[in-house]
Amino acid sequence: MSQPITALSWSSLAEGTGFASLESIDCRGKPVSAIPPLDLTSQYREIGAEIDAAVLQVLGSGQYIGGKAVQTFEQSFADYIGTSEAIGCNSGTDALYLALRALDIGAGDEVIVPSFSFFATAEVVSMTGATPVFVDIDASGFLLNLDQVEAAIAPQTKAIIPVHLFGQPVDMQRLMAIARSHSLYVIEDCAQATGAEWAGKKVGSWGDFGCFSFFPTKNLGACGDGGAITTSHPEWASRLRYLREHGMPVRYYHEELGVNSRLDALQATILSIKLRHLDRWNQKRGAIAQQYAQLLTSIPGLVAPELPVGGVGVWNQYTIRVKPCSDPQRCLGQTCPGMELGACRDWVKAQLQAQGISSMIYYPVPIHLQKAYQSLDYQVGDLPLTEQASQEVLSLPMFPELSAEQQGRIAQALAELSQAFQAA
Ligand SMILES: Cc1ncc(COP(=O)(O)O)c(C=O)c1O
Repeated sequence: MSQPITALSWSSLAEGTGFASLESIDCRGKPVSAIPPLDLTSQYREIGAEIDAAVLQVLGSGQYIGGKAVQTFEQSFADYIGTSEAIGCNSGTDALYLALRALDIGAGDEVIVPSFSFFATAEVVSMTGATPVFVDIDASGFLLNLDQVEAAIAPQTKAIIPVHLFGQPVDMQRLMAIARSHSLYVIEDCAQATGAEWAGKKVGSWGDFGCFSFFPTKNLGACGDGGAITTSHPEWASRLRYLREHGMPVRYYHEELGVNSRLDALQATILSIKLRHLDRWNQKRGAIAQQYAQLLTSIPGLVAPELPVGGVGVWNQYTIRVKPCSDPQRCLGQTCPGMELGACRDWVKAQLQAQGISSMIYYPVPIHLQKAYQSLDYQVGDLPLTEQASQEVLSLPMFPELSAEQQGRIAQALAELSQAFQAA
């Protein structure tokens, strides 16, 4: 095994989305370019001229909020997803919140959500005054366990929020059948899955609402915050259009309390351009995922993600599991801290980082065990598969421009590291 590299020309990744221009040195002191978890500057280099021209046009137009750019994007996004309507808003979080508000979900209601997701999935439920009810994931992947969804349905349950996590679609045929047989609403959290499909239909077109994030790291990312809600219910769509503007269907006449959550014209223009490239970028992600699967298949201690049968994923993340050691003595003694839960994964992450390869942990603490949800009184052990995933997951670099050479370096580094640990 080659020595871990400790001397780096950078020490830590910037917060947020700025991962470009990092450099590391290899064990012979030779500079190697570091591999970021994602690289937004490559995408900008590819379509920058198109974006620059369109942005200048918006700046010159003086129409910065609302107007044609937003309407054009909303229509093309609805057409892309396969719904009659798309309503732009300020973020994926707002998209989820507004969808719940449009359904009059609030105090006394329960909404079933996975705990293995980004915090916003549950946070929005609490923002309405309703209570999130957390269910576990399947053993075979990272998505909601549908048997447990069914078991969690109570008289107070009003809706289910399935999350197409990491870009992988939930089995929407089965989920819709469960929801409809109990007269429940379905709000799809599609934040990480723009373009994913289940049974030939795009996610976001199955439920009553599809909620999308255009945060820059998403498959369809803006150059700032943005989000959208898709639906084929015109009456809910028109309510959403005024809920996002202070509950104001007619200027200065407020029907109800709303929020200020608009998608601006600059972001809408950028998103319209990027939407035309999305399928190609998603296909590249798919090819990279296939290549990862081949490269990682025989590395002991690592588990590559399984593909859901019946769907097409869009690989917002390529998330492997690092299984804990069965024998701490195999950790070559010194650096690996052994059997402690999550320690092997954290060790692998640190060793990759030392070689200039960035990886991410989505998510180190499940939502039901977050301090913010202490009052709901969930305990460690309540959702064992979710808790186990939080200790094992590691998301490898994934972006359409990731090169074969970079993937080869990542796989090589993982193969060398795996000699230091042994799957249980
Ligand atoms: C699964 C999931 N839901 C909701 C959100 C919230 O989206 P936004 O950051 O645009 O508010 C995110 C964003 O990371 C997400 O990953």
